[in-house]
Amino acid sequence: MKIPKLQIGNITADTPIVQGAMGVKVSLSSLASAVANQGGIGTIASVGLGDFEASKTEYEKASREALAFEIRKAKSLTNGPIAVNVMGVLSNADDLIRTCVQEGIKIIVSGASLPLKLPGLVEDRSVNLVPIVSSGRAAELVLRAWDKRYARTADGIVLEGPLAGGHLGFSMDQLGQLEQHTLEALLADVLEAIKPYEDKYRKRIPVIAGGGIYDGRDIAKMLLAGASGVQMATRFVCTVECDVAQEFKQAYLEAKEEDIVIIKSPVGLPGRAIRNKFLKDLETKEKNEIKCFYRCLSSCNILEAKYCIAQALVKAYLGDIDHGLIFCGQNAYRANKIVTVKDLMSELLAELEAF
Ligand SMILES: Cc1cc2nc3c(=O)[nH]c(=O)nc-3n(C[C@H](O)[C@H](O)[C@H](O)COP(=O)(O)O)c2cc1C
Repeated sequence: MKIPKLQIGNITADTPIVQGAMGVKVSLSSLASAVANQGGIGTIASVGLGDFEASKTEYEKASREALAFEIRKAKSLTNGPIAVNVMGVLSNADDLIRTCVQEGIKIIVSGASLPLKLPGLVEDRSVNLVPIVSSGRAAELVLRAWDKRYARTADGIVLEGPLAGGHLGFSMDQLGQLEQHTLEALLADVLEAIKPYEDKYRKRIPVIAGGGIYDGRDIAKMLLAGASGVQMATRFVCTVECDVAQEFKQAYLEAKEEDIVIIKSPVGLPGRAIRNKFLKDLETKEKNEIKCFYRCLSSCNILEAKYCIAQALVKAYLGDIDHGLIFCGQNAYRANKIVTVKDLMSELLAELEAF
């Protein structure tokens, strides 16, 4: 297969590969710039970036400054396309989106709740807006709201299927019936849902499909099914450039298929993670003592939450694997070595070309 470019608004990537955002601090400037330098789109995750101590007193400021730092650093390392992911459930989402615009980011990706207000926060039309959805219905809801309220449509859509890592846009029941929610079927629904808006705004809305994409064959299948690109996250964890601690990468290398489980996160959504000591301990514990220093998530129910997810993710990022939450995609157990982003991209593109 000839390798297609990926066009999001006025931004062109030489390959159809988007590196998906990985919070907390798993995909920062190092990984994102390395992917952009190899012709993909690199994504910085904006969640939980501020120094933990500084955040206790000045959460918004610490997060904003840390995001600006990562964006500037990424730009100093690449001229390729860099996106920033801002989860709608973050209490400081609006502030982070303004920071992206101020720092000259041209692709903002937003999910973890429907980003119905996003165009209202970004007046500059040169900034490309990419909602994340998990169904055709969600795509329709977002595009209808944007059309009605802002006379604007999306510049791209990320479709995240049920095999993805981190928080998932599916119910526990749906996750128990994976065969009924294949990425191909969801993609067909999304392509159908966006058609009227592509016609109305006379532009192609590229759909970037992700969740379980692992090799060039998977990429080819998605492109043949009508996707303009793929979003891959898990595969990029076991790279030299990935910003997370070595112990986190090692946990992926050691994970077996049965270690990858679905959890109910304090955010109120299911998530996928490696069943490590932290998760095993939680199974027998009633509830951890939680001290919430800043309300980072608008949807977090501190009274019912068994643990502070921000702290658990920071611990994992730092390499305290026994006490941290290790998010991963369903295919994490397939990782068997740590490679450079250059070698990984070359391998994926060679497989895609050979398809
Ligand atoms: C460790 C980890 C952290 C993630 N964090 C985020 C996040 O902060 N925001 C987000 O929108 N998606 C997040 N995701 C989802 C990815 O961006 C991506 O869409 C998904 O994992 C793709 O599936 P794959 O991992 O099978 O390639 C995360 C995924 C992983 C594995």
